[in-house]
Amino acid sequence: MKLKRLLQLIAPFTLVIIIAVFVLNIITHGSIQHPGKSSYQTNCAQCHGDNGEGIRVLIPPLFHSDFAKNNFDSIPCWLKNGISHKISVNGVEYEQPMYGLNMDEIQIANVMNYLSKELLDSNREVNSIQVKEILKNCK
Ligand code: HEC
Repeated sequence: MKLKRLLQLIAPFTLVIIIAVFVLNIITHGSIQHPGKSSYQTNCAQCHGDNGEGIRVLIPPLFHSDFAKNNFDSIPCWLKNGISHKISVNGVEYEQPMYGLNMDEIQIANVMNYLSKELLDSNREVNSIQVKEILKNCK
């Protein structure tokens, strides 16, 4: 049984190989990607920009947005039902509707945590249970 012998030889090294691949991945990609990042890129970036910069007078920025930071708990309802009234973000008024997006509470929580950490420079965090609770009480 040559194969069995070979497997027995390799077995002790599998953990080392897994760790090596993991470390290599971090080195080549800079860091472990935040789980909300891909969700942000799929659902938000086409409007708000890759870095949350927004689009001139049409789409408000998310990067350091005072409005998003001050109304963090309302974000789940905005993502579910949209926003269509005049808002003021960092001193600039916007009045283009944002439509509701089809995202579940896990995707919303992930994207909100990404937003909080990477764009709002805030330490607020939510989990999917909290998001689900908030969604029950949207006006
Ligand atoms: C189709 C374009 C579009 C997409 C996609 C979109 N938004 Fe918006 N978003 C807008 C517009 C337009 C407004 C301004 C609404 C208003 O003026 O009432 C807005 C407003 C906001 C605000 C409040 C204003 C601010 O800048 O702080 C937040 C927070 C927000 N969006 C987050 C998100 C997140 C998170 C996603 C992805 C999950 C997303 N949006 C996807 C267009 C979009």
